[in-house]
Amino acid sequence: MDHWNAIETQPVSTLKPLFDADPDRVAKMSFEQSGIYFDFSKTHMDSAVLENFQKLAADKGLFDQIESLTSGGTINISEGRAAEHTGERGIGSETSVENAQLLRNRMQGLVQAIDEGALGDIEYIIHLGIGGSALGPELLLKALKIGDERYETAVISNIDGCAVEPVLERFDAHKTLLVIASKSFTTAETFLNARSVTDWMAEQGVSDPFGKIVALTAMPEKAVEWGIDESRILPFSETVGGRYSLWSSIGFSVALTLGSEIFDDLLAGAAEMDQHFKDAPFDQNIPVIAAFGDQYYSQVRGCETRAVFAYDERLGLLPDYLQQLEMESNGKSVLADGKPLDRHSSPIVWGGVGTDAQHAVFQLLHQGTHLVPVEFLAVIEPGHSLAAEHHQGLLLNCFAQGAALMAGKTSNDSNRNYPGDRPSTTLLLDDLDGRTLGALIAFYEHRTFANAVLLGINPFDQFGVELGKEMANALLAGDGNQMDASTETLKNRAFPA
Ligand code: F6P
Repeated sequence: MDHWNAIETQPVSTLKPLFDADPDRVAKMSFEQSGIYFDFSKTHMDSAVLENFQKLAADKGLFDQIESLTSGGTINISEGRAAEHTGERGIGSETSVENAQLLRNRMQGLVQAIDEGALGDIEYIIHLGIGGSALGPELLLKALKIGDERYETAVISNIDGCAVEPVLERFDAHKTLLVIASKSFTTAETFLNARSVTDWMAEQGVSDPFGKIVALTAMPEKAVEWGIDESRILPFSETVGGRYSLWSSIGFSVALTLGSEIFDDLLAGAAEMDQHFKDAPFDQNIPVIAAFGDQYYSQVRGCETRAVFAYDERLGLLPDYLQQLEMESNGKSVLADGKPLDRHSSPIVWGGVGTDAQHAVFQLLHQGTHLVPVEFLAVIEPGHSLAAEHHQGLLLNCFAQGAALMAGKTSNDSNRNYPGDRPSTTLLLDDLDGRTLGALIAFYEHRTFANAVLLGINPFDQFGVELGKEMANALLAGDGNQMDASTETLKNRAFPA
């Protein structure tokens, strides 16, 4: 049976009749887990769509794939290894869980030692890394900022000196700890920045800049070669992918800045979502249902993008984080067995914060010709102590946008006509604490994985980023004559001989 065909040819209802036909639609299409309420009722999925997707999921072996993911199976086929980020949260093979615990003890030991002054008087932390080695820590630091951080921490990723210089101007080199986060310990941007920061420390009179470096990596031997003492290297397992690594020692700067307890809460929240993903039947499994929605809009309705709007400043970096998670994982055009993928892979993920985005990009969402499934996130407990109007205004705006997208409004003036029937999902968090945020991020990881299984692709490699790196290296090495005429001209214009 071709389940895709059944999904693609099934008649589709508009949203309003789905609500009219079933007074229990909201109850049936909403779920709760770990302090997060997920409302899928404003999507076009009905019981027939869900049933067909459940059959597809069964056919694709999703249940066994989840089992394999969470028990150390060799699920990253192209690189011949497991993907053990859930092991960091205590859900995985015995070896991965034990190993993660040992490495975390080591990380906590170093947090404590630094707190107790083992590296001198530290007030500032510069966390260098890029992609998964920066986006996760930066998201967590911004989201969980508690107002009385133990250290002032800057995450720097870009090779652009404009990202580095303002931090160096602000920080006191004598009280700065440099954290180098790189799974491979080879990434060009991170190491140029590391050189600039250590040079700055030396120029400022720090006697032993290398004594103030902590390395977070899956390649500890490379960190030793780079000159970092073994006692300040926090390894993590090679089987934890870069964009899934915030749970590992890559989270060191978060634990140091906000305290190890918050980090533990984060892991505990993620483990709750892992357990749900492992145990819940597909018709109750929240990441799986979210993936059904993603596939429905991308394959059946031809949506090429998905927009995420956080109605909470603290979650402002979530769209960036999700871009890497989803697009680096599922932006592929081959199946896990190397054959071509004959349908769209990951949608393009974009978004921003509400209410800002309402006054900038929502025009297209309400009246544009593209159909964009929208995801709203909001938090019931405010993150500030200002007047209640702020939070009421924020949340009610969020809910109003979902309602307006769905309802639309008819007008004889075509300029003022709103077609409506535009789908959205809303995630309403009770509070933004470590546990809820951990569960939220794990939800997105598992949704990405479920999407990959439905498509039949391997979400754990990223060969697509290599060619650009190679060509940048060739240009840096002066091999410009191998480039096309346009690229040569650009290079010569920027850097005349
Ligand atoms: O170039 C892509 C990538 O490899 C990402 O997958 C990764 O998160 C990022 O670069 C940083 O890599 P590393 O942690 O090895 O420095």
